[in-house]
Amino acid sequence: MHSHILPGIDDGCATVDESLDSIRLLKQHGFVGSVCTPHCWPMQYPHITPTHIKAWRDALQREIDKAGLDYALWTGGELRLYPDAVEWMSAHGVPTLAGSEFVLCDFWEPDWQAWIDDTLDWLIEKGYTPILAHPERSPTHEEYDTHLDRIMDRGVLLQGNLRCFTGEEGRHPDQTVRRYMDEDRYTLLALDMHRPNTLQGRLDGIALAAEEFGAERVEAMLDTKVRELLFGA
Ligand SMILES: [Fe+2]
Repeated sequence: MHSHILPGIDDGCATVDESLDSIRLLKQHGFVGSVCTPHCWPMQYPHITPTHIKAWRDALQREIDKAGLDYALWTGGELRLYPDAVEWMSAHGVPTLAGSEFVLCDFWEPDWQAWIDDTLDWLIEKGYTPILAHPERSPTHEEYDTHLDRIMDRGVLLQGNLRCFTGEEGRHPDQTVRRYMDEDRYTLLALDMHRPNTLQGRLDGIALAAEEFGAERVEAMLDTKVRELLFGA
């Protein structure tokens, strides 16, 4: 439910070959499909819009089919929360995950900002459910958990990154992802895969998380819950 697998558009896979190599490895680990969630942040990637994402998703799916890989792609996006995010969505549309009500969001701020709440509120009022990606990686510290409590009370779901279990994202995410697991804050866990060179580490995170928190719980958060939320299955 969180991948930068579309080639050549953000900091994810750079080429179609990288996308196909990643898919081969993902399939070896039992994955059957990915929601394409490139960064929707016009400051850095002005051309990434829901309309373009759909076209790019269709193009990569054709390459996958041509390679005989039997792997599904769905549209999505990772919406950067920033002061003009509502204006951007009003102009370009909301990048929902696989056409569901769910919208993957992230932000990188040293301190919590009012427009984070404003953007989440705008989505909720319109009937969407925001999913905040990798809160454990946020540089924000002070009172951060209180803000998380508040947005969780309003219905925002949290998604943890499996790579954080390996320590490759640094000490703070490594400790925080475990604390948030202990506190049962996450609804979902995901790979947030980028390029093939970091994919194995992200996959290793699945085994580490399963070892520490139980394979059944990790499977539910990585697979069952995603099917249930996005596809009603
Ligand atoms: Fe991401």
